[in-house]
Amino acid sequence: MTSTGLVVFGLVSLLGLMSLLPPLAGRLRLPYSVLLAVVGVTLGIVVTLRPDQAIPSSMLHDVIDALGSVEVSSEAFILIFLPALLFEVALAIDVRRLVDDIAPVLTMAVVAVVICALTVGFTLAQASPFGLIACLLLGSIVATTDPAAVVGIFREVGVPKRLTTLVEGESLLNDAAAIAIFTLLLDMLLSGGDGSIGGTVGRFFISFGGGAMAGFLMGRAACALFPLLGGWPQAEITLTIALAYLSFVVPEHYFHVSGVVACVTAGLVLGSIGKTRMHSHTFEQMEGVWGQLAFWANSLIFLLAAMFVPRIMEGTSLKEIGFIILVYLATLAARFCTVFVLLPLLTRAGLMQRINNRIKTVIVWGGLRGAVSLALALAVIENKSVPAATRDFIATSVTGFVLMTLFINGITLRPMVGFFRLNRLNPVARGVRDRAKLMTLTDVAAQLADISQREGVDREIADAALSNLEARLAVARARSHRGVELMADEMVKVGLTVAAAHEVERCYALLNARIVDRHIAEMLLREAQYVREAVRGSGRKGYARAAERGLGFGPAFRLALWLQRYLRIERPLADALADRFEFLMMQRQVLSDLVPFARDKLQPLIGEEAAGEIVAISARRSELVEESLLALKLQYPTYAADLQRQYLGRIARQRESAAYQSLAANLVVSGEVERELRAELERHWTGLDGRPKLDPELSAIDLVARVPIFRDLDIKRQQSIAQVLSPLLVLPDSPIVRRGDKGDAMYFIASGAVRVVVDPSVELGSGDFFGELALLTGHPRNADVVSLGFCKLLALKARDFNRLLAADAGLKERIERVAKERLNLG
Ligand code: CMP
Repeated sequence: MTSTGLVVFGLVSLLGLMSLLPPLAGRLRLPYSVLLAVVGVTLGIVVTLRPDQAIPSSMLHDVIDALGSVEVSSEAFILIFLPALLFEVALAIDVRRLVDDIAPVLTMAVVAVVICALTVGFTLAQASPFGLIACLLLGSIVATTDPAAVVGIFREVGVPKRLTTLVEGESLLNDAAAIAIFTLLLDMLLSGGDGSIGGTVGRFFISFGGGAMAGFLMGRAACALFPLLGGWPQAEITLTIALAYLSFVVPEHYFHVSGVVACVTAGLVLGSIGKTRMHSHTFEQMEGVWGQLAFWANSLIFLLAAMFVPRIMEGTSLKEIGFIILVYLATLAARFCTVFVLLPLLTRAGLMQRINNRIKTVIVWGGLRGAVSLALALAVIENKSVPAATRDFIATSVTGFVLMTLFINGITLRPMVGFFRLNRLNPVARGVRDRAKLMTLTDVAAQLADISQREGVDREIADAALSNLEARLAVARARSHRGVELMADEMVKVGLTVAAAHEVERCYALLNARIVDRHIAEMLLREAQYVREAVRGSGRKGYARAAERGLGFGPAFRLALWLQRYLRIERPLADALADRFEFLMMQRQVLSDLVPFARDKLQPLIGEEAAGEIVAISARRSELVEESLLALKLQYPTYAADLQRQYLGRIARQRESAAYQSLAANLVVSGEVERELRAELERHWTGLDGRPKLDPELSAIDLVARVPIFRDLDIKRQQSIAQVLSPLLVLPDSPIVRRGDKGDAMYFIASGAVRVVVDPSVELGSGDFFGELALLTGHPRNADVVSLGFCKLLALKARDFNRLLAADAGLKERIERVAKERLNLG
């Protein structure tokens, strides 16, 4: 076989072997990486010892030759496999949670890496003759943790998602931090150890920060490209692969900042916003592709690196074993300090929730090391400028240490989880499980009876099957009543969490059906995720607070109002209003599903009482949305009608498209006919995807014509009045005038209503005016005036007030008369 042929043969043999390992690991209940290591080391021994020489089988010879020929350089490891591994983990991380827990994650990642590198570095520098920098380098290599084993177990036993994110986030960022430190130290080692500590730390931060910035920009740029790819999933997925590798190479090579950090950041950006930018369904497909790539990368790094082990460990002296044990103890001590000393400090500072000691112990013990440590060690081994003795020292220590974590911690991790009883469901989860079982068994029994009857199954056989089910049902029924009522509060929380997750799904469904634009979908998703987090944090109170806050006017809206009012720039306000309009309409649409969802799907799981509460909470939320929508509709009825028309059009388009799709799926029409029908549909529904323009209707002259006092004046006069009046939009329930303030303007109401807070309070509507008293009398404002809904007002500044009144006796007389009446009333 040619050498290329051998490498290909070797690689595919490894792939074939790899395909058998995950199920085997599952059956042996071992972490996958432990099994990989065992297989890799065994292969390494076979390749070194060549037992095949004794057997005359040319194919066996070839396989072993082929395995021996798959030698991947550390550069290839780092350039090919590392981006795949890092990008995939980053993609899957819930960025919102990561940001919420950024303090503990960064502590665990960056601070822990530093602590680990220092502990290992100083300990070994005392015990070995290799100098501090080499020992620190070793420390940075062994500081990267491989979360797969712990996360796998955490997922199985259902520990809170926050902890999984903590461990995953930690490993992701600590890879980045450790590699950045590693690169710096390697430079220092090669340049003979010059360079001040301050300079090194400074370079570390520049490299880290610059990498993050580069990754962020590249991630955003890729997301901006997706809409241009015409909805080709293959093209979109290929772009993500290009992004992962380009973000790894370009920042490092051209800008000398950390490529690892950039790659991780780009992955995080894509994971958080990519789903709404890509064509619908591409995201799941892409996750599948990345899962596959990462599986190959991880397995190959492990197998190939483990195959080196026998060669590296050959002839290891007692002293070297001593170093390995020292590294093991030092890393364990460093991790213990981080988890048991540093994290509680963060809890005390209010930066993270308390973690119980059992979970902390599992996190310490679960700090397995894996592919990244091995790849970094390889990089040192191959670097011929590093002194040979140092290379050997680092290679044996790292390899031995990684094997120790795998074989000692990896194998005992699951028994430890069992020992701490972390694998037992908490009472609430048990309650949900029992009810889910009851619900399902009841359903299955009914279906079985029905099928037996319809299909004429023998009576006896059917009865036997049913009585079997009945027995299980009886147990489930007895259990499902246990203690659940006592935990109604917890059940409401469970239900709200599920409802909030359902809300997120609904948002994606609307986006995929092209009923809502990407921009609005992102607003809805943000809101849904915000509510979900709030439930997790503080239960139903959190939910209610978050729901209410979601309907408030954010800083962007207020800025838009400010720009209109003081600079007369209208566009941002028009956009903000249109956004809010559509957001509320779609929010109503999303929420309309929550009440039936709670009643039909949640009730059997969480009980009637808790489901009832969720129905009430959801109904209240819908009501709030409805009120906010009504307030807008009152001001902009034509726009509301435009949006409704568009909404119906989009629904029609989606239904039509779904119908053709289903006809094609059932083979009623051919693919060709379907394409034709769809093309026709797209032609028919053009113009549905833009948004109707919203006119904020704040032109002074139009508003002047709507105020009765000015309405009958001639157009010239109206125009000159309009010049001194400034139109403004006021949000519902906002104070316009405050009692006791100095008067600087009076207001005419062009549309909407306000409340004057006197006793009893007075409501003023379109055509009325207020704020004139302070201007006429020079006294402070005599009452608060608050808007009732959206109001369009015309403000007349104090300095224009006298001029306008002097020029118009009728107006003056009218205002003074009303003022007098109001003063008499006061
Ligand atoms: P000013 O005092 O400048 O600010 C508060 C405004 O509330 C006041 O002007 C009037 O325009 C208005 N106001 C005060 N009292 C009454 C009232 N009894 N009825 C209607 N409007 C009033």
